[in-house]
Amino acid sequence: MSSLKNVLTVRDVVLSPPVALAPMVGLSHSAMRSLIVRLGGAGLFFTEMLAAKHLPHENPLSPYIVRSSEESPLFYQIFINETECVPAALEVLHKLGADGVDINLGCPAPQVRRRGAGSFLAEDRNRVCDIVRELRAKTSLPLTAKIRLGRKLDRENLQDFSKMLEDEGVDLLSVHARIHGEKFCRRPRWQWVSYVTEHVRIPVLVNGGIFSVTDARKALELSGADGVMLGRGGVTQPLLFARIAREIFGCPLPIPSVSHAEIYWQFYDLLVARFAPERRLGRLKQYTPYFAANYAFGHSLATKVQKSKTIEEARDIAEEFFARNVPRDCADFSEEQR
Ligand SMILES: Cc1cc2nc3c(=O)[nH]c(=O)nc-3n(C[C@H](O)[C@H](O)[C@H](O)COP(=O)(O)O)c2cc1C
Repeated sequence: MSSLKNVLTVRDVVLSPPVALAPMVGLSHSAMRSLIVRLGGAGLFFTEMLAAKHLPHENPLSPYIVRSSEESPLFYQIFINETECVPAALEVLHKLGADGVDINLGCPAPQVRRRGAGSFLAEDRNRVCDIVRELRAKTSLPLTAKIRLGRKLDRENLQDFSKMLEDEGVDLLSVHARIHGEKFCRRPRWQWVSYVTEHVRIPVLVNGGIFSVTDARKALELSGADGVMLGRGGVTQPLLFARIAREIFGCPLPIPSVSHAEIYWQFYDLLVARFAPERRLGRLKQYTPYFAANYAFGHSLATKVQKSKTIEEARDIAEEFFARNVPRDCADFSEEQR
């Protein structure tokens, strides 16, 4: 850990610091990314996974694509199962000004596996090789991949797979420290990520179960990774990026003095600014259970927001909740969330 660098360069893209927001469907969108930019500490953002095949037909104002210039660097994550759709998908990503392209090789969701993508694709090494080779040949942007530890715990297989990705031109790997079918209740195996870091020369981000600065420090120590990727922990506590940047990577950042309620309202305003009215409430509903973990009785906020029919109704519920509830100490939930 002593050799941690607070700046990584991936091709010409500077990650400062190497602390990333993970790709998450319904969560890693423009409003969330902007919220985190404003609070500081993240050096890399990913979009949620986008179907490579559908990208050429996506409306530029679609909530999956919409982005502001402050969300940077932004790597677009694609899920894909054939080489044929690579040229058209890359043309769109180049036009959108993507700073990098990430390939999803870890998602175990049945709807992604059924389409031959995510963790299903990762189990067909020849096909992965073809797709990565095609992507590499057709873009000079940073090409990254997000993987899990594999279908089962097999050190040699994990190392061969990671090396193959490096040899085919992948510039950075994010490793979710669980095997394909494992649920979040299973503890992440950060130690296993060290088999990747010791075997490849490209930078590695360790991911999975990081909910505090202590978790991040331990994940980095055990994995030997160059940086961290935060998913649920980052959206639950968006200030965690700045804390990790400061306390682990030594970035001279102020930690904004902002309450949880203020964070919720900033997020609310960003949803209103970035998305069409019919898109806002769904995203607020998806975010609120994560945010609510900061409160002892947060489940009541999440349940009521879930039942709201309009975003204004959800806002009134949240106002009333904040008037009666104080957040708990963030150290409390690191262990239970993981
Ligand atoms: C709601 C949700 C959506 C997700 N969507 C994606 C996705 O689009 N692409 C992906 O590679 N992983 C996805 N993931 C997995 C996360 O990127 C991450 O690997 C996982 O949540 C573990 O990290 P964490 O413990 O920090 O949350 C998703 C996870 C969640 C909770």
